[in-house]
Amino acid sequence: MGVTDSLLPLALIGPMGAGKSRIGRKLAARIGHPFIDTDYRIGVRYGPIPEIFEREGEEYFRIVEREVVAEALGESSVVSLGGGAVLHADTQDDLAGCTVVYLTVSSAAVQARLRGSKRPLLQEGFERWQQIFEERRPLYERLASIRIDTSHRSIDSIVDELVTWLKENND
Ligand code: S3P
Repeated sequence: MGVTDSLLPLALIGPMGAGKSRIGRKLAARIGHPFIDTDYRIGVRYGPIPEIFEREGEEYFRIVEREVVAEALGESSVVSLGGGAVLHADTQDDLAGCTVVYLTVSSAAVQARLRGSKRPLLQEGFERWQQIFEERRPLYERLASIRIDTSHRSIDSIVDELVTWLKENND
């Protein structure tokens, strides 16, 4: 496919429900590089994320998340990060050396996707999604190499756009 190692690691960031895992997995397969979902890896290593939040709290979750993110970003892969991973200063520093794909989504479009979600930060209601997104939006914007709105598009068309963009930036 010809995507050079210089574009790796490639990190996907953005709010909950933006499509980071699904798009990351498909993109990795298309460009022939490994895919790592940090939330999945946290789950394998530490147990289900809702249980981590319940037992140990968000602060502890951010510590284990940082450990897994640091490891994943060292693996020359396509890496989807949990929505709050960018809060960690060391992760912000690491992302400066990565290709960063910021996936955004409108509140209206994401609401259906997140119905029935077990995500701990949304248990008080969907309004929290918007508040959390607004708090983090400047960070996402600052860290992004490219931004794509996933609200009304198929995964395939987004992956196509990313592959084209990667080829254009592959020198
Ligand atoms: C979180 C997002 C979740 C997960 C955890 C916390 C956040 O990942 O890491 O529930 O702080 O935004 P997704 O962005 O994949 O939903």
